[in-house]
Formats: sequence, structure tokens, C-alpha cells
Amino acid sequence: MKNSDLSKHVLVSLGDRSYQVLIQPQILPQIGRVLQDVGLSGRVAIVTNPVVNELYGRVVVRALKRCGFSPFLVVIPDGEKAKSMYWLSKILDELVTQRLERQEVVLALGGGVVGDVAGFAASVYLRGVSFVQVPTTLVAQVDSSVGGKTGVNHPIGKNLIGAFYQPRVVVVDPQTLQSLPKREWVAGLAEVIKYGMIADSKFFEYLEQHVDDLREQAEDVIPTVIRRCCEIKAEVVGGDERESGRRRILNYGHTVGHALETWGRYKTWIHGEAVGIGMVQEAGIARFLGMCTKELVERQRDLIQDVGLPIAMPSMSFAELWGAMQHDKKVVKGQINCVVPTAIGKVQVVPLFQQRIRQWFIANQAFRVKRLDPVRQGVGRPRLSKKK
Ligand SMILES: NC(=O)c1ccc[n+]([C@@H]2O[C@H](COP(=O)([O-])OP(=O)(O)OC[C@H]3O[C@@H](n4cnc5c(N)ncnc54)[C@H](O)[C@@H]3O)[C@@H](O)[C@H]2O)c1
Ligand SMILES: [Zn+2]
Repeated sequence: MKNSDLSKHVLVSLGDRSYQVLIQPQILPQIGRVLQDVGLSGRVAIVTNPVVNELYGRVVVRALKRCGFSPFLVVIPDGEKAKSMYWLSKILDELVTQRLERQEVVLALGGGVVGDVAGFAASVYLRGVSFVQVPTTLVAQVDSSVGGKTGVNHPIGKNLIGAFYQPRVVVVDPQTLQSLPKREWVAGLAEVIKYGMIADSKFFEYLEQHVDDLREQAEDVIPTVIRRCCEIKAEVVGGDERESGRRRILNYGHTVGHALETWGRYKTWIHGEAVGIGMVQEAGIARFLGMCTKELVERQRDLIQDVGLPIAMPSMSFAELWGAMQHDKKVVKGQINCVVPTAIGKVQVVPLFQQRIRQWFIANQAFRVKRLDPVRQGVGRPRLSKKK
């Protein structure tokens, strides 16, 4: 790879497990070269789903063959249900049948679901084979493919079984986002806004100034946005790979967000939509605790709403919200470690008892009744305000 190319990429610095996130439109046809450059060879198990296989399977297979690799496909179903012990086991069956060897490769081609389950398979098969991430959704390109969290769901809760296992390289082709359903694109923008909120006020301002570009998926801003998100994630993960400290800031919006996903049985909102609502609510908690200004709450809410995300809480009781929060890994001894913003670009982790959250919820509910917000807004909704 040329040095000029490297400047566009992001290094995840983890000692001898460091790796590059390569972000480049039209990089898919060059993926064989990329794998050669990081020292890989032999067979490549491409784990994907039927949707992504149809769109990008052929180009990846061809590019790998051209560089002397022997790829084969392992196709799992579309959707969150594929992130299960059953499908993990199916992938492993295929790797065993094909006798994939230690120095060979598992490559995840798809969104976060494919990346999480394929990464976990790579981590346990022969106690670990080389793993390559080729994310094709916005969520996967800015979040799940970087940082090494892999795993599957348990019927009782999400992501309860897994491992930290870093890829050898992450190959991001922003061009693949052009085929993404609008709803998936917009949902990914919640995670993008999250990075501005937790770590970079200038980036947040950039997003405010490019709302129309974001809504319209403008090709010239997408690589810049992905790169900044990956830089922030790489910096956070590089300092705290196993989430014992700073990495927890990445959970901003996810305490309420995960609870809403659980409460809605993963049908009402997709992940990013729930995170968008979660960020609005968690900024509300910060305001309630006197930790941030009203202006922060409003600026963040406006941006989330303007990109087309829902912002309103559904009509639910406190018992339902609290109950849904209990499955969260962030709950320790009845306290919830909630990430709250103190300024744009700055967050803090605060342990909150049930009583405190109840007080916020009651105050917040009174506000909601007054405003008569609809349960769902957002996707496809005309813009209400325009920031310059
Ligand atoms: N490991 C982590 O750090 C981490 C971080 C965030 C999220 N996640 C996990 O990621 C998962 C969500 O990921 P997701 O939002 O990418 O969902 P997903 O993988 O289900 O993909 C969303 C949909 O888009 C389709 N798709 C993928 N790429 C496409 C393309 N280029 N064109 C058209 N359609 C395409 C998929 O087939 C699917 O239907 C969740 O399971 C979540 O827990 C993990
Ligand atoms: Zn998330």
C-alpha cells in the first residue's frame, strides 16, 4: 500500500495486535491485495448472508481468487436471529468440514450481525484463526467492525456470549452503503452523532452543518464521517480494550436504548433508532441532575431529529423501563452506570440508583404529557428546522 493511501486510514493501536482500518471507496475489488499486504494466504471462509452475498459476494470472491486465495462461502440467514449459538455452530461445522487451517482466514462480509458471529467463530475455531472484517452497513463501518467485540445472543439477553478478538484488518468500502435501505442508513447516523457527543465537539458541529448531506447520503462526506468515527473508536479502544474504564463512554445512549430495544422485543425500533432516543433521554437525565445545559439537550435533540431519527419515548411505565434495564451488563448491584453528557464532546459515567431514575422518569413524563409527543417520529418525516 502506498503511503498516501495510509494517511486515509486509521490505526487501532493494540501492541502486536494492532491493525489498520482501511477506508476507501471501491476498495472491495482490491481486497485480495489488502489481505496479501497483511501477510495472509490460503483459503478464506467468507461468512455472509443472502442479501449481502447477492450484492457483493461475487466481487469479493473474484478479487480474492485473482490474488491466489481460495475462497469459499458460508451463508447464514439475514437478521439478528443469525447471532445465535445455533448459527455459530453451523459456521464451525463448515470450517471443520472444509478443514480450514490455523494460518487461514475467516472473513466477515456484512453488517454487525455477520461481523459479530463470524468474529466469534474465528476466535474459537482452532483457538483462533485470522479474522478480517469487511463491514457493509453504517453501524458496522463506524462501530461494530472496530474494537474486537464479537459474540452471539442468548435467548435471555443480547450479546451474553462472546470474546474480545481483534481482526487482522478492517476493509471499509463506503460505496457499499449506497445499497443500504434508508432506515438502516439513518439508524447508523445515531452512532455517528454519538461519537460527536462523547468525544469531539468540532465533529458534532460538522454534522450539524452537513445535515442535508447526511440525510441524502452524499458520497463526498461519507468517507470523512466514517474516518472520524473510526478514529474516535480506535483511540478509545486503544486505551481500554476490555472496557474496564474509558471504553464505557461508547455506551452513551445505550442504557435507555437497550432497554427500549428489549421492551419493543427488537421489533419496534432497530438498534440505532433506539440509541437515538436513548441519547435524547440520557441527555435529559444529565439535565435533570444539573450536569448539562438546556442548550446541549436541545442541540443534540435537533440534530438527531433533523437527520430523520425518532426522538420520543413510547408510553411505558417506570416499572417496564426499569425491568427492561435489568438485563443490561451496565447494571451492577442495583445501580446503573449511565453515561451522561456534560458538554458537547464530553461525557461522564454516573452510577444511578433506581430512585434517582424514577424521579427523572416522573419529571420527564409530566413534560411528555404536556408535549403530546407521538410514539414514533423520524424516518421519512419532513424536517422541522434547518441548522446552518
Ligand atoms: N461488536 C460490536 O462492537 C458491536 C457494535 C455495535 C453493534 N453491534 C451489533 O451489530 C448488530 C447490528 O448491526 P447492523 O446494524 O449492521 O445490522 P445487520 O447486520 O442486521 O444489517 C442490517 C441489514 O442490512 C442488510 N445489509 C447489510 N449490508 C448491506 C448493504 N451494503 N446493502 C444492503 N443491505 C445490506 C443486512 O442484510 C440486514 O438486513 C447487532 O447485533 C449489534 O448488537 C456490535
Ligand atoms: Zn450501538
